[in-house]
Amino acid sequence: MSGEAVGRAAGKAILLGEHAVVHGEPALAAALPIGVEAAARPAAGPLAVHVSSWDYRAAIGDGSEGGRALEALALSLGLEPRGVALEALAEVPPRAGLGSSAALAAAAARGLIALAGADPGEAKLFEAVQASERVFHGNPSGLDAAVALRGGLLRFRRGAEPLALEAAVPPLVICHSGEPGRTRLAVEAFARRLESSAEAKQRLARIGELVSAGEESLLGGDLVSLGRAINENHEQLAWFGVSTPALDRICSVARELGALGAKLTGGGAGGCAIALVEPQRRARLAAELAAAGVEVVR
Ligand code: MEV
Repeated sequence: MSGEAVGRAAGKAILLGEHAVVHGEPALAAALPIGVEAAARPAAGPLAVHVSSWDYRAAIGDGSEGGRALEALALSLGLEPRGVALEALAEVPPRAGLGSSAALAAAAARGLIALAGADPGEAKLFEAVQASERVFHGNPSGLDAAVALRGGLLRFRRGAEPLALEAAVPPLVICHSGEPGRTRLAVEAFARRLESSAEAKQRLARIGELVSAGEESLLGGDLVSLGRAINENHEQLAWFGVSTPALDRICSVARELGALGAKLTGGGAGGCAIALVEPQRRARLAAELAAAGVEVVR
């Protein structure tokens, strides 16, 4: 093993269906043009990763979650857990609900297998990213891993083959609440709420309906009704307790400024919100949100 091998994977924005997807409902998600690139190089010692833009380091055996995730990734790929260092460039911010951990794991996995000259196949790659995600999030549906590895616009249901949708990614403004996302905590809170009442189960099913309606709108080019589904999805997520006042505020401001729909995206409890807008208004909405004090990611 010598030289260097580079792997790349995309970040993601969930258009509809996060959290409910953990419990068997479908979700729609789009790969972002920003992601993570990881260069794998031979090095002494246990497998390690450095992400300069996150000021983040982890190595197998260092006692960190990142170290355990790396170990899970290497073991799942059947690779030696030592002798390689990963240097990653991340365009996607960490802990923002934009799939940064899956993108890093997928990029690292691709770099590692290319360096080792191995070809485990897509199913094994997916399992490896899931093994890493399990360390961070406990009970990942697989949505983030699927989008990181496949890219594009996907309809995803846990345990089923993802479906690539024949539609363009709709125009979105992605905004950060200024607070770090806390996916594990939010996934646990959602699951507890789900067990609390029959109403919660009805709301879970309603999110599934919104995903199907949103998919139809997207495929039919009807951004107005997609926006309505996005708005209601946010209200449902807020009922489950995974929004925050900062995320609610971004959504209200975006709607006041003319967004067709706005919701939190990803795990929530912090992190990002998305605002759907007509293509010709995207730049203006982003500028107006920034002027209203909202942190625009892209
Ligand atoms: C996190 O990006 C999406 C969640 O639905 C969790 C998951 O699907 O594993 C909140």
